Amino acid sequence: MAQDQIAMLLKSGFLLRFDLSLDDLLQRIVETARYVIGARYAALAVLNDEGQIAHFVFSGMSKEEADRIGEYPKGRGVLGLIIQEGKVLRLRDVRKHPKAWGFPPHHPIMRSFLGVPIVVNGKPYGRLYMTEKQGGREFTQRDEELASLLAAQAAAAIERAMLTERVRQAERLKQLNDLLGTLNRLTDERQILEAALRGVQKVLPFAEVSICLYRPTDDTFSGCAATQGSRLSQLHQRWRQRPIAAARTPLLPCVREHRPVRMDELVSPRTPFERWLWHKGFRSFIGTPIVLDGVLLGLLFVAADKPSAFSDDDQAFLNAVAEHLAVTLKNARLLAELQEKERVRGLLLNKVVTAQEEERRRIAYELHDQTGQLLTALLIQLQLLGRELSEPSLQERVERLRQLADDIAVNLHHIAWELRPPSLDELGLTAALERMVSDWSERFGIPCQMEVDGFDDGELPSDVAIGIYRIVQEALTNIAKHAKATRAKVVMRRQDGRLQVIVQDNGVGFDVASVLRHPDEMKRLGLVGMMERAAMLSGKLTVESKPKRGTKVFLEVPLGQTPSGGDGR
Ligand SMILES: Nc1ncnc2c1ncn2[C@@H]1O[C@H](COP(=O)(O)OP(=O)(O)OP(=O)(O)O)[C@@H](O)[C@H]1O
Ligand SMILES: [Mg+2]
Repeated sequence: MAQDQIAMLLKSGFLLRFDLSLDDLLQRIVETARYVIGARYAALAVLNDEGQIAHFVFSGMSKEEADRIGEYPKGRGVLGLIIQEGKVLRLRDVRKHPKAWGFPPHHPIMRSFLGVPIVVNGKPYGRLYMTEKQGGREFTQRDEELASLLAAQAAAAIERAMLTERVRQAERLKQLNDLLGTLNRLTDERQILEAALRGVQKVLPFAEVSICLYRPTDDTFSGCAATQGSRLSQLHQRWRQRPIAAARTPLLPCVREHRPVRMDELVSPRTPFERWLWHKGFRSFIGTPIVLDGVLLGLLFVAADKPSAFSDDDQAFLNAVAEHLAVTLKNARLLAELQEKERVRGLLLNKVVTAQEEERRRIAYELHDQTGQLLTALLIQLQLLGRELSEPSLQERVERLRQLADDIAVNLHHIAWELRPPSLDELGLTAALERMVSDWSERFGIPCQMEVDGFDDGELPSDVAIGIYRIVQEALTNIAKHAKATRAKVVMRRQDGRLQVIVQDNGVGFDVASVLRHPDEMKRLGLVGMMERAAMLSGKLTVESKPKRGTKVFLEVPLGQTPSGGDGR
């Protein structure tokens, strides 16, 4: 291509036509420079804020050749000159320049030199330079003009690429933010893993994503969560049947040092796992450890068909996800443990309450049937004895004994009734409560009204009926013990498919929150017990009270469904 055409091409801004990442763009610039200027070598040195070379891109030399030279230039010699002065520098023989530093071993000989600064946004961004003019001894004035044109074009393209990169980073940050937000809202381990897979897949659509589970007991990977139907999902079956030793994968640094492993080009697979990946068509991958309190839970593993598919940004993104995943998993596990403990506690409580009710019932029947019958026999005998005696003083003493036995029988009956009112089994909850309320009222001299509305005893399983009965019993006992009330009321009504029970008094009231905050350990169990009972019935109990304003105990229980507990009889 003639140089005029090349100039036209550069003026038309052709570099801007490519939508490249910044790294790819820099590579394209040096290759273009080498071609259009006709140089054997071209390079671009990107500067950091201190004006030192931070990044070096080259063309005309293989990576192996560059590796043999060793470190990239530091910008001490002639290169430093264009860096410091920011001017174009064209030399016939760079070695003869007074500032020439000399070449390191294995560095090819370079004579002719052309260097131009690249200024992005008014700030020095880097230097583009070419050496060894092809087909001539030195670079020409025209080459210099072309190089300046190219540098201006490169600056515009770099600026745009940097802007795009910033937008992309902002987008990625948002995606990361969304994903972390989703993870924060989840408490179920399986859902967390699935959300993480989906979130990572969205950001890296070209890759397959999985979460491999690590088993420390035998240092293996024993399972893997991955998108259904993906190649990586096959690992789950394989590893579940036969866990793979971490040493048979390239992921050992994740396990031993908890650091990510990144493979940019899977050319000669060494471990069995790498061979599997290779056969499945994967050419690059990253394993990022998921570490919790210094313990490895697993890996966030991504793999792609293209070599070098993942960038540093991708790696940083995966690190952030893995870190957050560890915390979310920890919380989910703690919550699951807590829920399990709560479940077991509920079961135990249920058992205790059921056993307690059973025991009360047994004692009540024993008192009523056995002791009660003996007392009745005693009463009859005393009556007969009284009739047979003719001595009035003896008759009087026997009558007193009979009275005593009668009182004992009444008391016994009352105790047995409180332990387990037979009417609860025989007549149902409403009748049992009515009897309890009228007995209570009479005993403590407090008028108590009872209202029942729109509800039928048959709707309640027996353990729910017992639970409600015990709650009302404790609420009334509390009124008698603490309230100094002059009136009380018990209401039982159906409301939106639920049973509401209200026990209310007009007494002194109390500060509910402070009593519940400081339960007097083993002493005050009434309110707490009522709440526990309500929870066992899948219901809810609240207490509304204010000093001097009376107290309202409000219980709500679902109707038409069997609660979690046992029968209770
Ligand atoms: N209806 C009420 N009126 C006024 N104060 C009440 C009423 N119900 C409860 N309280 C207050 O709340 C406290 C806690 O009640 P709770 O039933 O838990 O324990 P308790 O009755 O003191 O002891 P327990 O029920 O374990 O024998 C009571 O000590 C009392 O101060
Ligand atoms: Mg009490």
